[in-house]
Amino acid sequence: MEHIQSFFSLTRLNSFGIDVKAKYFCKANAIDNILSVLDWQQKQQTPLLVLGGGSNVLFTKDFDGLVLQNALKGITLEKEDDTYYYVKAMAGENWHEFVCYCVEQQYQGIENLSLIPGNVGASPMQNIGAYGVEIKDVFESLEAIHVQDKHIQVFQHADCQFGYRDSIFKNALRNQYIILSVTFKLRKQPIYNTSYGNIEQALEQMKVTTPDMASIAKAVIQIRQQKLPDPKVLGNAGSFFKNPIIPDQLFEAIKLKYPQIPGFPISQTNTTKVPAAWLIEQAGFKGFRLGDVGCYPLQPLVLVNYGNASGEAIYAFSSNIIERVAKEFNIELEREVNIY
Ligand code: EPU
Repeated sequence: MEHIQSFFSLTRLNSFGIDVKAKYFCKANAIDNILSVLDWQQKQQTPLLVLGGGSNVLFTKDFDGLVLQNALKGITLEKEDDTYYYVKAMAGENWHEFVCYCVEQQYQGIENLSLIPGNVGASPMQNIGAYGVEIKDVFESLEAIHVQDKHIQVFQHADCQFGYRDSIFKNALRNQYIILSVTFKLRKQPIYNTSYGNIEQALEQMKVTTPDMASIAKAVIQIRQQKLPDPKVLGNAGSFFKNPIIPDQLFEAIKLKYPQIPGFPISQTNTTKVPAAWLIEQAGFKGFRLGDVGCYPLQPLVLVNYGNASGEAIYAFSSNIIERVAKEFNIELEREVNIY
């Protein structure tokens, strides 16, 4: 039987650094480990929580069940054709290390996703994205194991129902599958995406005239390091909320009172995406701190643990933000982080 530990501290396994315990804990390095641990968990009839990099969770209490850390490793070039490399990464690979590996190998397309915390296995779940690129743009397929009957299934692009920070694994198939590996379709010839945010400006400062994968990755890393807190230094889970998508009518109504509200119309939907960071700043939370919980001064979409904040305190703080934004703008912010 795999090594199952009891009353295991999760402090180092969640990027908020919340001090909670799992009733049972197991780290799985092989698919066989996962299978036997699932057998055990089903016999025990104890709840299951699969943890990847722990960078998108907020624990508000101890977990009264089994926490399974998916630590499957390995990166392989599955095949190539004239246009693409098909690169398979196991779920427990660190996302940023995978990006660095692809940059070294000249597998193009995920350089804009540098320095996103977390593991490969979680990347399709919430269709991670930054600087104009999302996982769905480079996704080929994934393998996942069904938690109940333990068959391994391949999901193609269309099966995943990707949306903005969303997929079928957050909805209809929530908690039903464990992602084992993800295969990415990465270009041989570059199509650089430098138009978003201040990538071009950062490249200029770096005195780069002809950008390549490595310089774009470096620019993204610089921008992120300037604006986002390093979870190793200051506990956080990246963007705590999603950017809300609201009816154009509501957007126009808000604009009457706040002519400077930024918005990005989503074509053919009569809706507009509004930066949650802006709403939170207007609601007065930017840089606000209560005890050890704070709204990060350089990017208010990020909530931080300044020391010994409890998960409950961070959750209460986020509820406060949701309430204030709803009152002022009639917009319901949705948490991006998974709450346990
Ligand atoms: N803004 C403010 N005040 C601020 C900061 C930002 O009003 O203090 C407004 C500005 O209008 C700005 C806009 O927010 O133009 C957008 O800001 P930013 O470019 O920093 O991006 P974001 O929409 O806040 C999203 C992702 C980030 C990703 C960045 C860059 C979500 C929930 N978040 O943030 O992803 O890094 O774009 O592409 O979509 C994450 O998911 O954990 C994450 C960090």
